[in-house]
Amino acid sequence: MSTEGELTGRLALVTGAGRGIGEAVVRALVERGACVLATDLMPQGAERLAERYADHVTARPLDVTDATAVEALVAEAEDTLGPLDIAVNVAGILRSSPAVDLADEDWAATFAVNTDGVFHVSRAAARRMAERGSGSIVTVASNAAGIPRAGMSAYAASKAAAVMFTKCLGLEVAARGVRCNTVSPGSTRTEMQRAMWAASGEDDEAAAVRRVVEGDPAAYRTGIPLGRIAEPADIAEAVAFLVSDRARHITLHDLYVDGGATLRA
Ligand SMILES: NC(=O)c1ccc[n+]([C@@H]2O[C@H](COP(=O)([O-])OP(=O)(O)OC[C@H]3O[C@@H](n4cnc5c(N)ncnc54)[C@H](O)[C@@H]3O)[C@@H](O)[C@H]2O)c1
Repeated sequence: MSTEGELTGRLALVTGAGRGIGEAVVRALVERGACVLATDLMPQGAERLAERYADHVTARPLDVTDATAVEALVAEAEDTLGPLDIAVNVAGILRSSPAVDLADEDWAATFAVNTDGVFHVSRAAARRMAERGSGSIVTVASNAAGIPRAGMSAYAASKAAAVMFTKCLGLEVAARGVRCNTVSPGSTRTEMQRAMWAASGEDDEAAAVRRVVEGDPAAYRTGIPLGRIAEPADIAEAVAFLVSDRARHITLHDLYVDGGATLRA
């Protein structure tokens, strides 16, 4: 497959690339001409993308909680594929529980992936980008980082930490030509969302989407003013914009892609 576009000649690292939003990000970057190192804890999905986009996608297993593995993979990628221009943190997990019942293991696992993972990957990428004087990093966080949500305390706190880390990093490397932004999705149709629906006993997807769109005053959930949940491609579009030169004057920004769900209050 040959693609020419605004990202032609760029190399991107994407974590959590095997399915859902990460997979959509890989597709969006490749469609714009980028070459992508698609990584995931479970590599099958990334390997399927590498088969589909043979000239543009390289798949590698990567656990973002493992700082040594992250550093080794970024070093290997720069040796074999070239300098990294773009890094997109998409890997994430959700463990729902009332805060007072939250297990230590769930809290630690959530922060290990959603916060430590963002730190490991962004640090390895930003150091090299800053030395070269250019690069762009996007962290996919969540609108739950900006508004309290019942049953999601660990997840929301881990995402808020990832957002602020990405902004502080962006401040430090701005003068060296590296932009750091976050994209904060609302409810998006992926396996993570389906697992939440299943856990609440909802097996009819259309009914579950309706409930999300309508909101739930008893749980202080506003619903979605635009009247739909996001598809993974909606989030990928925002990421693709932020890593492109069209966003060359945008850094430290947190772009909500949630159909208005948080009212940006
Ligand atoms: N789906 C939503 O409604 C929604 C809303 C807001 C934010 N997000 C965020 O968007 C991102 C993608 O979510 P999704 O819905 O596509 O989820 P998903 O569960 O469908 O996909 C997440 C991917 O991350 C990978 N992953 C998990 N742990 C990892 C680790 N330690 N190292 C590397 N990869 C790992 C998984 O294997 C999986 O392929 C996540 O950070 C999530 O928190 C999702």
